[in-house]
Amino acid sequence: MWYLCVFYHRLLDYRRPEVESLAELFGGPGAGDAVEWRMPENHHEDSPFHFVRLPGDERFAAQVANRSLLVKGIYELWGHGTTYEELEKSVMEYPDERKLPYLTPESTFKIVVDTFGKVMSSQEQNEIMKSLTYIPFKGRVNLKKPEHKFFVIETDDYGSNNGLPPVMKRTIFFGREVGAADRHLLPMYQLKSRKYIGPTAMDAEMAFLMANQGLARPGKLVYDPFVGTGSILVAAAHFGAMTMGADIDIRVVRDGRGPDCNVWSNFEQVLAIRWLVGVGFLDLLLIFDAIICDPPYGVRAGGRKSVLRGEDGSSNTQFPEHPCFKLIYSCEQILSFRYSRVLLTMVKVAPYTEEIKKMAEEQHRDFRENHQKWLDEGNLHSAVFSPAEPAPDGKSKFDRDSKPKYRGKYV
Ligand SMILES: C[S@@+](CC[C@H](N)C(=O)[O-])C[C@H]1O[C@@H](n2cnc3c(N)ncnc32)[C@H](O)[C@@H]1O
Repeated sequence: MWYLCVFYHRLLDYRRPEVESLAELFGGPGAGDAVEWRMPENHHEDSPFHFVRLPGDERFAAQVANRSLLVKGIYELWGHGTTYEELEKSVMEYPDERKLPYLTPESTFKIVVDTFGKVMSSQEQNEIMKSLTYIPFKGRVNLKKPEHKFFVIETDDYGSNNGLPPVMKRTIFFGREVGAADRHLLPMYQLKSRKYIGPTAMDAEMAFLMANQGLARPGKLVYDPFVGTGSILVAAAHFGAMTMGADIDIRVVRDGRGPDCNVWSNFEQVLAIRWLVGVGFLDLLLIFDAIICDPPYGVRAGGRKSVLRGEDGSSNTQFPEHPCFKLIYSCEQILSFRYSRVLLTMVKVAPYTEEIKKMAEEQHRDFRENHQKWLDEGNLHSAVFSPAEPAPDGKSKFDRDSKPKYRGKYV
């Protein structure tokens, strides 16, 4: 079924992938690929308004929305238009058999008037609610815990001058909410509530997004090879996954800032710890379901970290590959005009066989030899600290416009 999907206006690159991952999580292999998208007329692709076709029934759409972080709401769209008259016509044309089950006298409901890119007074909102007399609401209003929530959402025709994704024509949507993100978990896990953080600790929203991309759930084992203070794994464990991490710096993981302030404290703070002991490393390769990480590309912790962005605005790092894993997302998070970081999510697609094990051992040997040679030739310092090459025309190599910047910040 097709729905109206309204996103939060943030982390634009992550919005559709999150929905597709969650479709895969709840619908099984192939369900993510079955998701279809289209844009409402006159809306820019960065607009928060998208139409989405999800496999399965409405309960499936609700599951996807409720587990997400970036879906403000998924709605059964009853009508839309560029004026309130057009909206009325469109809602009236929507079949009664779809509408009437949600308008019965026994039901409770609430109407919310929401806007994007414009401010509306409560008086204007009331006027809009009163104008909906053409919808035969028979139930009782319940503002706290309604059975059905209806939304009128309006965007203005502010063109491209408002610092937001351009909207060429005012659009008004009316729909019944099917599900929405539960962002209440973010304050609980936010960095300032966490016992142990480091200079590169990942914020809770991003960590939960990655756990969603990695399809974290009970019965899965998620691995972070650059675990640091454990942010990503705490998020994966919140969703019931078993977790395992590694880090080149034993002090970060083992010692932290003392016995009550280390990676374990971050887990203990919010969860019953789920971990795995006594399994050999190669055996573990057999059972990882996802590898999710925030690799330390670029400048090390303490300085500015992450990837220098290339001419097209994207990072051009080559990511590691493994025949058993598929890189499903390499999302770039813009930190500033010049720096971004790349977050990688890989999921298991094939079993780990003896043959693959032998091949991996050979590749590992080759890498060690070449890497040592590269270090001996004194390349490390220049690789990390060399300034970016200027373009032949003398202009900056970085294209400011290649990534969206709305209302003063990259999203
Ligand atoms: C960007 S931080 C990860 C931060 C982590 N996501 C968190 O929330 O704390 C990268 C981590 O990778 C570790 N690291 C750097 N090089 C590594 C390597 N070659 N192998 C494993 N870990 C490495 C660093 O010690 C650092 O803790």
